Amino acid sequence: MRVFALSDIHVDYAENLAWIMALSDSDYQDDVLLLAGDVTDDMGLLRTVLTQLRACFKGVYFVPGNHDLWVRKAGYSCSLQKFADIQSLCAELDVRTRISTVENLLIVPLLGWYDFSFAEPDRYLRRAWRDFRACQWPETLQDEQAITDYFLSLNQLPDESVRSSSSIDATISFSHFLPRLDVMPERIPPHKRRVYPVLGSVKLGAQVAQLVPDVHVYGHSHVNRAVTLDATRYVNNAFAYPDEERIARKTLVCVWDSGEGIAC
Ligand SMILES: [Fe+2]
Repeated sequence: MRVFALSDIHVDYAENLAWIMALSDSDYQDDVLLLAGDVTDDMGLLRTVLTQLRACFKGVYFVPGNHDLWVRKAGYSCSLQKFADIQSLCAELDVRTRISTVENLLIVPLLGWYDFSFAEPDRYLRRAWRDFRACQWPETLQDEQAITDYFLSLNQLPDESVRSSSSIDATISFSHFLPRLDVMPERIPPHKRRVYPVLGSVKLGAQVAQLVPDVHVYGHSHVNRAVTLDATRYVNNAFAYPDEERIARKTLVCVWDSGEGIAC
């Protein structure tokens, strides 16, 4: 069995959707896919994509990203209501959203958001970042800290007895958002670092640090990378926008192979 990572497929672009729909329905029947968010804000397209991926893989895990919770065009007035409908869609299609085991692997989906703990947003970002207008939150979640705390509170971390069980060979977690800022390469130029405040959360990083997974897959940055930090292999394999050929490989990446272990 292999575990593949993919995120940020943004199938609102026809060529991205075409790539998904052309995936082999025979090559991955023994394999698992971790889909780390930002598929589309269109619920009909999300159903199409999850149905296709479910037919291609033995198992599919999913956490939504920020684009998936945009409500403006989608006929919702609240991003949490849309989140609930996405969870229901996943249950209907047998797409996993909660911690579970596959063969000897423990897979841990981690919800999250960004809380400006990586950096403070400047005026440009506050004006330009679409989520600030395209997501709508209930009164109880009126700032990014509250939104992040809400999603983190839904995460299930395994207790020690599960993790130390001899039947578990490895733990693989995944999130849409970044659990730590140092997964970003040094080469990112200063003007691109303006988005750092909305990339992830130190508190999400604390959950990953508590878990100490063998591999953690993340999305959102669109900057493909694999790097080992504190005994965890962090992997981003964003499919990304059509014009982002240089920073995204636009292929499935295998992160775990039952025969080899960590595969990237
Ligand atoms: Fe994202």
